Amino acid sequence: MKTLSAALVAATAALAFSVTAQAEPDGEAIYNQACMACHMTGAAGAPIKGDAEAWEPRLEKGIEILYTHSIEGFNAMPPKGGNLSLSDEEVKASVDFMVSAVE
Ligand code: HEC
Repeated sequence: MKTLSAALVAATAALAFSVTAQAEPDGEAIYNQACMACHMTGAAGAPIKGDAEAWEPRLEKGIEILYTHSIEGFNAMPPKGGNLSLSDEEVKASVDFMVSAVE
């Protein structure tokens, strides 16, 4: 019986860990998958990640506006980078990742 409850504790801990990992989306992975095509090359006039001059006027709008524009779209910037299966939280994490390079 002791072995069984130890196994249960381990299983519960593993489950709790995977739930936590999901609650915090990996902004870098999402950027690489959904944003890099434009934001690394500057395609269609996208501000390039790490280009402080391009990001300065955007950061001045405030991060909430940048989240909204990323989720709903903004001019040539497609909603969620065109990847509508991303959750709002995942898009925000990728914005945070992109912006962290110039903050
Ligand atoms: C198809 C190309 C494309 C993809 C893919 C793309 N973007 Fe963009 N993004 C743009 C363009 C173009 C702009 C500039 C829009 C403008 O300023 O008129 C932009 C602007 C932005 C801005 C600045 C908005 C503002 O208010 O100044 C943010 C933040 C942003 N993108 C985040 C993202 C994120 C996060 C992803 C991935 C989930 C992503 N983009 C994917 C093309 C893209």
